Amino acid sequence: MIRAMNDGRFRTPSPEIRRTSTVLFDDIASLRAALRRWRAGDRGYSTYGTHGTPTTAELERLLLAGEGGAGVELASSGLGAITTAMLAVLRAGDHLLVTDSAYGPARELCADLLTGLDVDVEFYDPLAGAEIASLIRPATRLIWLESPGTHTFEVQDVPAIVAAARTSDHRVVTAIDNTWGSPGLFLPFDHGVDISVVALTKYWGGHADLLMGAVFATEELLPQVRAAARLTGTAVSAEDAFLVARGARTVELRIREAGDRALVLAGRLVGHPCVARVLHPALPGDPGHALWQRDFHGASGLFSFELRRSDGSPADQADADAFADRLVARGRFGLGYSWGGFESLVMPARWSGLTRSVRPWTGGPLLRLSIGLEPLEDLWSDLEAALSPS
Ligand SMILES: Cc1ncc(COP(=O)(O)O)c(C=O)c1O
Repeated sequence: MIRAMNDGRFRTPSPEIRRTSTVLFDDIASLRAALRRWRAGDRGYSTYGTHGTPTTAELERLLLAGEGGAGVELASSGLGAITTAMLAVLRAGDHLLVTDSAYGPARELCADLLTGLDVDVEFYDPLAGAEIASLIRPATRLIWLESPGTHTFEVQDVPAIVAAARTSDHRVVTAIDNTWGSPGLFLPFDHGVDISVVALTKYWGGHADLLMGAVFATEELLPQVRAAARLTGTAVSAEDAFLVARGARTVELRIREAGDRALVLAGRLVGHPCVARVLHPALPGDPGHALWQRDFHGASGLFSFELRRSDGSPADQADADAFADRLVARGRFGLGYSWGGFESLVMPARWSGLTRSVRPWTGGPLLRLSIGLEPLEDLWSDLEAALSPS
């Protein structure tokens, strides 16, 4: 048997991969004891594979250290985590306020599935701030935030929205999709948010080889979130949990490094004749910059820009698609939907849907870039070449 040299125990820095459906008990007394402790919320006890394993417990510990909150539930994708969070709070007859800039499939979940379950869904202007108070009705149960917003990167005034929810004359829960800012760039619980959802698929996983999501909650909301996770049967594989736990060791370095590179590239794009506008809240000229400076501790590597033609005339979708093809042909950027990995990606907003019902996008075609960890000058040379074809 392999043993450590000094104390006879073999210890490793990474968690063991423990696969299971069944948890075995020595006898009924130990089964009952485990059930009691698990029902009391002791995460060291699980009675079935969907309720957690030592591998997922270690991942949860790492996630909480990065995001905050009283507890966390894992889901099989970021969208699965959004679904769990919504089902944890909403019931038929409730009114749901959703930012107009929410991740596309989250919009669809609300507009299609939740509407079908008799939830009254209303999209609101992401820039609403304190004025959101005027939209809160007696039936309003949940305000859904996402900041910065998908594709258009509006920064929301989260503290003002939370204050409006808190001062309403009934309990209104706030939940945020914090995928862009996690870990550490935005700390939702420091700003009074009740639930934070993160697609671990992006930076936490970081290597484009898994799907996972997490729902973090305050002490008050945690029982509801745990119940929703348990009853939707949302569970993750031991291998994927292991990989996210491994990603967690480097995620803060990776997100900051990608963010630094992205900001340099975004700054260079600002001055380019074929770029009408860059949507990146860490740029001083961005409309969300003041709020970003006030509330965020950094920027990740995802931003968008609006293309224009070299003669200054507006670009159209064909120009955006041709740009993406030229960029991908240069070899360093991939064309793909996800983001937050080590590899740089481009995606014209049109192909992932830029649906807005309150604040329609009136500019030209948007291209979203996810900047990875490739050498900065290589990325810039591909971007420059694709912007200015000879
Ligand atoms: C902001 C945001 N939230 C959630 C998700 C969903 O994550 P997943 O791909 O793991 O379902 C995405 C995916 O692109 C996203 O961009």
